[in-house]
Amino acid sequence: MAPTETIPMLNLQAQYLRLKPEIDAAIQEVLYAANYIQGPAVKSFAKALADYQNIQYVIPCANGTDALQLAIMALDMPKGSEIITPGFSYIAVAEVCKLLGYQPVYLDVDAKTFNIDIQQLQDALTAKTKAIIPVHLFGQSAHMEPILNFAQQHGLYVIEDNAQSIGAEYTFSDGRKVKTGCMGHISTTSFFPSKNLGAYGDAGAVMTNDAQLAERLQQIANHGQVQKYQHQIVGVNSRMDTLQAAILSVKLKYLDAFIAERQAVAHAYDQAFQAIQGVQIPFVPSFTTHVYHQYTLVLKHPVEAIRAALLAEGVASMVYYPKPINDHLPYKSQEQLPVAQALCQSVLSLPIGTDMTDAQIQTIINTFKNSLTHT
Ligand SMILES: Cc1ncc(COP(=O)(O)O)c(C=O)c1O
Repeated sequence: MAPTETIPMLNLQAQYLRLKPEIDAAIQEVLYAANYIQGPAVKSFAKALADYQNIQYVIPCANGTDALQLAIMALDMPKGSEIITPGFSYIAVAEVCKLLGYQPVYLDVDAKTFNIDIQQLQDALTAKTKAIIPVHLFGQSAHMEPILNFAQQHGLYVIEDNAQSIGAEYTFSDGRKVKTGCMGHISTTSFFPSKNLGAYGDAGAVMTNDAQLAERLQQIANHGQVQKYQHQIVGVNSRMDTLQAAILSVKLKYLDAFIAERQAVAHAYDQAFQAIQGVQIPFVPSFTTHVYHQYTLVLKHPVEAIRAALLAEGVASMVYYPKPINDHLPYKSQEQLPVAQALCQSVLSLPIGTDMTDAQIQTIINTFKNSLTHT
């Protein structure tokens, strides 16, 4: 019989049970009001999230991939423009660029932070470059100050993909601290259930401090309408369900507490693994905090054998990501990404989330350590 995971990557049921009275009440309210699309909870969630982020405009939408689509559509760049983005990431940025007729240009990543390698921006620049989409991967910010400076120097847009790092904080060289998602012209995020702030279905959001862009984003997300049946630009249907907004409004109040729980798990792992040869624990540079959407190790040991050993003891693990983006058929390109290639062979993410017990954490630590001795 195949082994089953007794410790999953994330225990969403335990989190729901903890918040059940509040979540159930919020859901009931929406069901009774029967205002399922564009109900008042959507506006109030947008306002609460804008306050949390300290940003002017939040436009809720259907998911994080749509959020990227809305952001790119709103900037209305010439078709065929090049968009610089990391090659070690989730597929969504590449997918949306291609879909909208833009050319993603993949950059390699930093071997320690896994985020876009800022040293390579200059080499990637061409006359067609119009935007950079850094991804704040696994829970920590890309190095935004040099990215923003480079973008300003060359007249490029910056869209932050903040799907994995909501709540993280970036520190500029003058000491100014800003939440991820508030630095570029536009930022996007996902509330996919497993995200640090997760809905109970698909949901996402776009954010900006630019009033004109905000208006355009709002219109595009709702069929390009200025008002009902007045369509001024080509849009899409990408609205956040009222139910998801009501659920997210409850969960947003706990986001910082959720992050603290994740950080405590990461701290326990760090303590346990930092001295082990051939195991690189997550590196957190001084310019960012880490909200540990993933806890990702880099191993000199054979990853699949370790995964099998963990699974045999019921412990889940994942490889984010097994291939660089430009190794997937629709996104094949000529960029060489040696760091991304090496990471894809050596990264391993362990379970992390809220509501983990000390016993579970200890089991994961012990099982992981044991698995190294058997490989
Ligand atoms: C970095 C990144 N960008 C975009 C997305 C897309 O979000 P969604 O799944 O909500 O479409 C994800 C989600 O998984 C992601 O991790």
